[in-house]
Amino acid sequence: MPTGAVHDRSDIAELAALLRAGELVAFPTETVYGLGADATNSDAVLKIYEAKGRPRFNPLIVHVADLAMAERLVEFSPMARKLARFWPGPLTLVLPRRPDAGISDIVTAGLDTVGIRIPDHPLARELIRAADRPLAAPSANRSGKLSPTTADQVVKGFQGLVPVLDGGASQSGVESTILAVEGETVTQLRAGALPRAEIAAAIGRPIAQAAHDARIAAPGMLASHYAPSATLRLDAEYPEPGETWLGFGPGRAGANLSPKGDLREAARNLFSMLHELDESATRIAVAPIPHTGLGEAINDRLRRAAAPRTPAVH
Ligand code: TXA
Ligand code: MG
Repeated sequence: MPTGAVHDRSDIAELAALLRAGELVAFPTETVYGLGADATNSDAVLKIYEAKGRPRFNPLIVHVADLAMAERLVEFSPMARKLARFWPGPLTLVLPRRPDAGISDIVTAGLDTVGIRIPDHPLARELIRAADRPLAAPSANRSGKLSPTTADQVVKGFQGLVPVLDGGASQSGVESTILAVEGETVTQLRAGALPRAEIAAAIGRPIAQAAHDARIAAPGMLASHYAPSATLRLDAEYPEPGETWLGFGPGRAGANLSPKGDLREAARNLFSMLHELDESATRIAVAPIPHTGLGEAINDRLRRAAAPRTPAVH
């Protein structure tokens, strides 16, 4: 069984088995090394947050081996199809998620879109094919550290706790360019390894940048986020008249993120419960969530969901 050390191509079958069993595996891409988890398994994806010490749920990029795999997960408009000619390559397309795709809503952070790409590294695609799963993968570094471009950097960053597939040094060291594609409208959400001008030339039209460019705002702050139409009141001790309760821990009857007070369970339920309550509730009172471990990311998302409506991208 592979351990948290460096592995070569001959270990791909075993690394794929780990991914299928819900474990993390770091893998090479042409941009940076990714910290991969089965994108259809919420508990596996939550391990990414725990390992990175990431304080907020941003939507994660889903990596697939080929176009056929992408087509099972997202809808392609004619424009999206044109842009997919850059695949394999350092371009992520944010496209409507197919309802039957089975992508965890921890990956999409509750959105109905998926950021998806085919990495231009043969070992990455081999691993994805062997696992037969789409892989959610942010850069394989602890939160706040530099993105790794070698297997050794990944091993050091996670103190050898995560197995790493060694594919040599990453070509670019800069993350993929991210484009939102809505029908024929294309907006750059994050500047990255593939220059905007090159993409614009290929599709024969200019590409607008999102209001705040990645070069100015912190990456991740750019992502549109899920906002229920109901208003949210956080850190509520009890529901007021007209409010629908969303609890945490033992106590009050009603919807509960985790009756036993388990943060991983709460994270897993967060988006689906908000979606469900939002069908009928106009005001939702949410119990206090401890601000430790995954609680930080849960509270971050709750605060954003509670914030007054803002444009989709900001
Ligand atoms: O080069 C890369 O893209 C690397 C390698 C490992 O592939 N991956 C990477 O992934 O940078 P990640 O998960 O850190 O990128 C997440 C960013 C989010 O912060 C957000 O800006 C954007 O991707 N994103 C992903 N899905 C999105 C969605 N559905 N809507 C809007 N933005 C999305
Ligand atoms: Mg990163």
